[in-house]
Amino acid sequence: MAKGTDKVATYVPSHPVRIWDIPTRVFHWTLVLGIAFMWFSGEAENTSLWMPWHMRVGIFLLSLVIFRILWGFIGSDTNRFSQFVKPPIQALSHLGDLKTSGTAYHLGHNPLGAWMVLALLATILAQALTGLFASDDIMFEGPLFHLVSESTAGSITGLHHLFFNFILALALFHMAAIAFYRIKKRTNLVKAMLTGSADWPNTQPADPQASTIKFANPLLALVVFMVTYATINLLLRLI
Ligand code: HEM
Ligand code: HEM
Repeated sequence: MAKGTDKVATYVPSHPVRIWDIPTRVFHWTLVLGIAFMWFSGEAENTSLWMPWHMRVGIFLLSLVIFRILWGFIGSDTNRFSQFVKPPIQALSHLGDLKTSGTAYHLGHNPLGAWMVLALLATILAQALTGLFASDDIMFEGPLFHLVSESTAGSITGLHHLFFNFILALALFHMAAIAFYRIKKRTNLVKAMLTGSADWPNTQPADPQASTIKFANPLLALVVFMVTYATINLLLRLI
């Protein structure tokens, strides 16, 4: 009985507000699986089996991140850098909002989360680019290894190791922030990244821009990704 009463007391009426398009959601969860695979395949003992896959999937992830950067200019409103990246001072002032209780849905990334998104994208891009010049000193070399001297390749391989630690640290921080929103702010960001819609609580003021968000055609995203992937593979063969 007490349990049922609790449920009624904590129920917050809400309505769905669409914030993420399909390409963003597919991009995100593919990236998460991809990074997990890169970790496993980069560290695996049986390099002759896993390293060729590490390089293939790495080039796929490089294309995926470049696609997301392009999508940040031509994609849906909530994906555009011009819409969600705010000056650092505004991002820091968002820290104050976090202290207050109550839900905190945004039409897209919040100003602080936006900088985390940029940091994640930049670090993963750097990781994939350094991989192209990396070598395990035994059997495998990235496709651009031949362009640099052996000692330069050694230094770039060192960066490839280092940047992965940054990715892990950022990803942990990213997940901690999402858990904080879930527990402290009772805001379920993961559900929105899965379904595309935020459960906007009726108690939180509606954002007047919610009804004006423009979503780009998902087929355009597919074409942009395929052209990016094909161009990168072609360039790596030609260089
Ligand atoms: C390797 C691990 C991960 C990486 C590299 C990563 C990367 C990213 C990136 C780049 C974005 C921005 C998406 C965009 O604008 O296109 C993002 C957003 C998001 N990620 Fe992750 N992610 C990781 C793991 C996770 C996990 C495990 C979860 C859930 C448990 C998660 C939940 C989310 C959510 C909810 C958002 C949207 C945040 C918001 O509302 O502003 N991520 N992530
Ligand atoms: C997002 C993309 C990538 C991630 C997350 C990633 C991650 C990793 C990790 C965790 C290692 C093991 C490092 C260690 O032993 O401490 C590794 C090694 C390696 N990666 Fe990547 N990698 C990526 C992209 C690439 C690409 C695109 C290539 C080449 C096409 C590549 C080539 C290599 C090579 C040759 C090694 C062996 C280096 C050594 O044994 O010292 N990686 N990578």
